[in-house]
Order: sequence, then structure tokens, then C-alpha cells
Amino acid sequence: MTDRYAVIGNPIAHSKSPLIHRMFAEQKGQDISYEAILAPPDGFAATVGRLLKEGYKGCNVTVPFKFEAFKIADSYGFQVMDALESDRRADAVNTLDFRNGKIMGHNTDGIGLVNDIQKNLGVELRDKHILLIGAGGAAAGVLHPLLEASQAPLVIYNRTLEKAEALQKNVTQHEKFRLFSIKPVQFGGLGSEQFDVVINATSAGLTDSEIPLPTTIFAPGALAYDMMYGRETPFMEFARKNGARVADGLGMLVEQAAEAFFIWRDVRPDTAPVIAALRERQ
Ligand code: ATR
Repeated sequence: MTDRYAVIGNPIAHSKSPLIHRMFAEQKGQDISYEAILAPPDGFAATVGRLLKEGYKGCNVTVPFKFEAFKIADSYGFQVMDALESDRRADAVNTLDFRNGKIMGHNTDGIGLVNDIQKNLGVELRDKHILLIGAGGAAAGVLHPLLEASQAPLVIYNRTLEKAEALQKNVTQHEKFRLFSIKPVQFGGLGSEQFDVVINATSAGLTDSEIPLPTTIFAPGALAYDMMYGRETPFMEFARKNGARVADGLGMLVEQAAEAFFIWRDVRPDTAPVIAALRERQ
């Protein structure tokens, strides 16, 4: 019998997840279906309830439901299990796994980003000085895996200082990250410090808004990574002009999907051909 999966979000029409998971399934001979489901803003719990009742095996969760997804299992009397410790820390979940009467919540965004940077782009993060731009859900979801990979001081740069400070506090209250140096900086507050990896986790690119950055921000050979894909953002343009190597978030999208696929199917898909196929369609 075909195992059913879905991605729930709002909006969802342009999601590439169904295509990615179908490519993975074909590649690995897995008998699954995967559809995109639009949930109304107040309808996430009801949608998950329906999927559970209909025997789905799991789902991905995207904007704006990732925080709700972290809490969801409780409301159905299912036991929430954190397979990855980092999921509890991020308070955001992008993958739900339904099995044996339990809902397991995972966040594969961070590992997806780290895998894309290290494996696909060939940039080792260990000891790298990272600038993380943004302090919303997208930034929170990747911060722990970034720190685990770099083991180095990191700067969170955000338009609203309070949000960067809150994210820093949230992270450093965990024993494992207590001794990490995480510096919150408000837009306009960066000096002459240089970074090896600069990651844009804001949604500024959606509105073509510029992010105020010193032109000297990039260390020699630096990587500028925009978690958005499908368009050249002002951040990417700025980085290109100022000598950085530039990457968009398409690889991260495929890598986070691969981690979800692995959680559900215990089979690891090859991501490179899927990334290449998506690039061709862009
Ligand atoms: P997401 O889940 O996509 O991260 P979010 O939680 O609303 O969405 O966070 C959006 C992030 O993008 C925040 O860091 C936000 O900055 P503020 O904390 O100051 O709101 C940032 N952002 C959104 N629009 C922006 C813009 N036009 N310029 C700069 N930063 C922007």
C-alpha cells in the first residue's frame, strides 16, 4: 500500500516539496505519495488531525505553522518525542513523523543548511566566524546546528535588537551552548569585523529590501548564503559585488527534505541530481 505524506503551509501553492519527495521516491523505489495541503491560519491542528485519521505516515510543516507543529502532538494526546535534541531547543518543527501512536517532531532545516554548506558547497564550518542575519523563525531553526558545526563565536545581526537578544538568551540558557559567544548586533552596528560565512535568514529578500552591511564584511574567500531561493536578492547582489562566493537556499531546501525522507523511510536519497534537476527548471 502506498504510504501517504504531505506538506502543510499557508501559502503552499509554490512549494517544491512534492516534486522533491517524488524525485526521491522514484530514485529509491519507494512507494509513497506526497501532496501540498493549504491550511487556513487557524486550521493547522485540524489538518494534522485529519491526516492522522486518514492514516498518513507523516508531514512536513512550513510557514506559518512550524511553532504550532512543535506543540501539536499534545493536543491529540499523542506522545511527543524529540528524536533530535535540537528540536526542543528550536521550538520549531518542520517534520512530523506519525508512527506507533506517536508523533515525533523534528527540525531538519538546520542540518539541511549545514549539509548544503559543508557537503555541497565544500565549506567546512569548523572554527568559521559566522554572521547570522535575522532572528525570526528561520534563524532560530538553524542556529544550534550552525553552532554545533562551527564551535566558534557567532554574531546575530537583526533589524530589531530585542529579537536578536532574545534568541541569544534562548540559546545560551541551554547547558551545551552556555559557553558559546553569541553577540546580538542591531542593523547599522557592525564595525570592521570580517566573517567567513554570512547567512541571510531574514525575509527581507521577499520585498527586495536591502540589508545594511559594511562593504568590508566578507573575509577573503567568504561564503554569502541566502536561505531564499528562486530569485537574486539584494543581499546576494551586494555579496557578489563585494567579493563573496554566493549561494541561494535551493540546496538547503533539498537537504532538509532529504533528512525528512530519511526519518520517514530510513533511506537516504542522493540530493545532487535533485538539486541539479531543480536548478534546470529555475
Ligand atoms: P521567518 O519565520 O521567515 O524567520 P519571522 O519570524 O517573521 O519569519 O522573521 C523574519 C525575520 O526577517 C526577522 O529577523 C525580521 O526582522 P525583525 O526581527 O526586525 O522583524 C527580518 N525582516 C523581515 N523583513 C525585513 C526587512 N525588510 N528588512 C530587514 N529585516 C527584515
